[in-house]
Amino acid sequence: MPGLEGLPVLVVGATRGIGLAVVEELVRQGARVGVTGRDPDRVRDVAERLGLWGMAVDARDRGRLEEAVARFAREVGLYGLVYNAGTSPAFTRADRLPLEVWDEVLAVNLTGAFVAARAFAQALEGPGSLVLVGSVLGFRGGARLAAYTASKAGLWGLARSLALDWGERGIRVNLVAPGWTATDMTEGLRNHPRLGPAILREIPLGRMARPEEVARVVAFLLEPENAYLTGGVYAVDGGVGAR
Ligand SMILES: NC(=O)c1ccc[n+]([C@@H]2O[C@H](COP(=O)([O-])OP(=O)(O)OC[C@H]3O[C@@H](n4cnc5c(N)ncnc54)[C@H](OP(=O)(O)O)[C@@H]3O)[C@@H](O)[C@H]2O)c1
Repeated sequence: MPGLEGLPVLVVGATRGIGLAVVEELVRQGARVGVTGRDPDRVRDVAERLGLWGMAVDARDRGRLEEAVARFAREVGLYGLVYNAGTSPAFTRADRLPLEVWDEVLAVNLTGAFVAARAFAQALEGPGSLVLVGSVLGFRGGARLAAYTASKAGLWGLARSLALDWGERGIRVNLVAPGWTATDMTEGLRNHPRLGPAILREIPLGRMARPEEVARVVAFLLEPENAYLTGGVYAVDGGVGAR
């Protein structure tokens, strides 16, 4: 029997890229999946196409994010949460980074993860599994990506701290750290005539990840059978972190 059969899992940031690939993998494994994202049309499209629970949520709206977790728990049940929402709107040197951009990136990438995780632990009645989607930039420096890199480093600390706080309740918390992945987020850099090839030279496997390759690791960490995995960081990066 597939490892997630019948288990309710909510994915925050589920409409495109890695989040959508996670949804599709979880559905393939028989989970009862909930989808959220900022754009109501995209949430509706994914939810209708796959016959899933859906709710539009901007991760910066703390009250609505908490409501989404609580409603999903009430209406479907709760076993897993994947916090995948992420944004990287600026590629600029830190001295030119507007504070508004810093605030937005931290709100979506880090504070949203904490708000959703806390609501998850509050609503959960039995054991559960939480997966945060970080980045290999969480443990390296990111040139021209100070806010994004700081937010992802924060997620690393958050995942380990939550694993300590909630271990005795049987709530496992892990971080998946993708490297370069071919999604909308990297489209501009991928197609850049100079930076695109330079990025590929940095990756030992010589190509970006496909979103499905990240999704498989997220699903693995959610599976109840992998019951001894908590507080860990799982890089899916084609070897970038080995440098
Ligand atoms: N692509 C990479 O190379 C890479 C590398 C390392 C880590 N990551 C991380 O992986 C995760 C997914 O990235 P991706 O490449 O798949 O990005 P993407 O294609 O740009 O998709 C981002 C997802 O996050 C959602 N989202 C963005 N801002 C949101 C907000 N304010 N509230 C709610 N949802 C929001 C989007 O929803 P809408 O469709 O509604 O906007 C979308 O579902 C992110 O956390 C990213 O930092 C990506």
